[in-house]
Amino acid sequence: MGRHGFGVDVGGSGVKGALVDLDTGELVGDRIKILTPQPSTPDAVADTVAEITRLAGWSGPVGVTIPGVVTGGIARTAANIDPSWIGTDARALFGDALGGRAVTVLNDADAAGLAEDTFGAGRDRRGLTILLTFGTGIGSALLHDGVLIPNTEFGHMEVHGKEAEHRAASSVKEDHDLSYKDWAKQVSKVLIRFEELLWPDLFIAGGGISRKHDKWIPHLTNRTPVVPAALRNTAGIVGAALAVEAGIAP
Ligand code: BGC
Repeated sequence: MGRHGFGVDVGGSGVKGALVDLDTGELVGDRIKILTPQPSTPDAVADTVAEITRLAGWSGPVGVTIPGVVTGGIARTAANIDPSWIGTDARALFGDALGGRAVTVLNDADAAGLAEDTFGAGRDRRGLTILLTFGTGIGSALLHDGVLIPNTEFGHMEVHGKEAEHRAASSVKEDHDLSYKDWAKQVSKVLIRFEELLWPDLFIAGGGISRKHDKWIPHLTNRTPVVPAALRNTAGIVGAALAVEAGIAP
């Protein structure tokens, strides 16, 4: 039996957890999903995370993602979860809810970036990689030669007078009923701006819309290669499990 870890991905609609094979990045057994409690307060979410580890029969360390900035274990922003997360010591909260075992809490896109860089689309690629998750907003992860620089919030960078995520999140495509081609124009503007400032070697496109990559990646006009995420909806879970095992604790 290989090395195993446990990751939980807290999102606006669902809390998902699974046992992860840390040598292959594959899930071992089922992914357990419980709807995010409403309101998604820290205590309610911590109970849900504890319930998922209990259902999985896991008693070891746990990595948890949240959709916001985490520094020193403390949640600093809260996108799509209850605003009472801001200022919450998330590491202590989950640690208590999980009986005092080792816990790492990190940003959801950072976890996805770690997973993609280790096992997915960024595997065997050196240099600077930027993963972007296109969803309700845009999450970002920045990695250099496999090392994560946590808490980049590139989705909030202003691009031609508008926040990147207000220009090119996949929710913008839906809300304005844009064609893939027209939406790709907006994504290109965002990627070109990131290129001017960061000079990445690779972009990885994640989020649900990455499954339809053949419809929009060919329309992009930026310079740097853009590849679709490979792990799809398990990246957050896998990255969380990797982070706790590697002692990555932003
Ligand atoms: C948040 C990020 C998060 C992303 C995806 C953004 O609005 O600011 O922290 O990673 O949404 O959930």
